Amino acid sequence: MSKKILVLPGDGIGPEITREARRLLEACRHEGLDIAIDEAPVGGAEIDRSGVPLAADTLERARAADAVLLGAVGGPQWDSMSDISKRPEKGLLVLRKELGLFGNLRPAILYPQLVAASSLKPEVVSGLDIMIVRELTGGIYFGQPRGRETRDDGSRYGYNTYVYDEHEIRRIGRVAFEMAQKRGKRLCSVDKANVLEVTMLWRDIMNELAPEYADVELSHMYVDNAAMQLVRAPKQFDVIVTGNMFGDILSDAAAMLTGSIGMLPSASLNESGQGMYEPCHGSAPDIAGQGQANPLATILSVAMMLRYSLDEASLAGRIEQAVGAVLDDGLRTADIAYEGTTRVSTAEMGDAVVAAFKKAG
Ligand code: NAI
Ligand code: MG
Repeated sequence: MSKKILVLPGDGIGPEITREARRLLEACRHEGLDIAIDEAPVGGAEIDRSGVPLAADTLERARAADAVLLGAVGGPQWDSMSDISKRPEKGLLVLRKELGLFGNLRPAILYPQLVAASSLKPEVVSGLDIMIVRELTGGIYFGQPRGRETRDDGSRYGYNTYVYDEHEIRRIGRVAFEMAQKRGKRLCSVDKANVLEVTMLWRDIMNELAPEYADVELSHMYVDNAAMQLVRAPKQFDVIVTGNMFGDILSDAAAMLTGSIGMLPSASLNESGQGMYEPCHGSAPDIAGQGQANPLATILSVAMMLRYSLDEASLAGRIEQAVGAVLDDGLRTADIAYEGTTRVSTAEMGDAVVAAFKKAG
């Protein structure tokens, strides 16, 4: 039976970048990959259509899919909505929660061709290849109770709850240890165990898991130090595992080391291997509709989909090689362009990657 892929383009540059990424899926299908591709609106696009960011029918189609490819959601036209449940981002949070996508993999790889695009010195970043494993369905973004209140005297307060159950910590820990086993065998767990009880538990569980993965060297770091180390000496890391909020922040910082957030894919997996794949960046309203967006993060997300949800590591490798070949040829969207390279549009970048992919076959 064909594997089902649901494409959710979303808002801003979402439709432009998913269009190019989808072409890689089509190219794989031409080579015999048995997939059926379906598409639906999400986020602001769905709010404009039906008033909610995620239609019940779209959630059902996402559940039935083997993998979901998402562009990005959000934009200034929906920012005035104070009801969080009606904002575009809510569609994404519900999808992650409902599909149980607790394991977020965010690689930060600096392509050798892009060393000059990084904000750090070449000797600090060249050869950078780290994997951030972020817990995605728990922690302070989901903890109850939460809210905003006004006291009788008129003063306001807000609160969120930072909570993790041990099973949530253990399952993300296992994903991270297994990832480290496949890579450089070093795992750094990031917490704030000097201040927050919930992360003291986090540290204990990681230590409890460690003997099962004797070939992996486990270390611990406080999140403030980890932020500093990421920009001071990022190559000291192999795999980083951390909670939802710390992972959100650290992975964006790691993103910039690689030159452009337009290069970074991500995977979010559940316990049965079903996954949602999306670029790390947002909907980039400032460049939407101009054909300037870099589609490579979304194209590389397709490669992650092939590897983690479709068991097609060789096709995944071919896409990654095609991206490398196009960069070797000097083709660059605006975000990664510098002197001596050739400026191309979103669609031209897509054309080039598809051509390189076919050539490698
Ligand atoms: P952003 O990632 O959309 O943009 C930040 C900067 O990076 C902008 O200057 C943008 O032009 C540039 N950029 C991003 N992706 C690019 C690409 N593929 N090619 C070239 N340049 C690119 O983050 P920002 O501006 O904070 O948020 C914009 C909107 O996106 C907001 O509504 C936000 O809520 C939403 N957002 C959605 C996310 C998602 O759907 N997963 C994640 C982050 C933000
Ligand atoms: Mg973020």
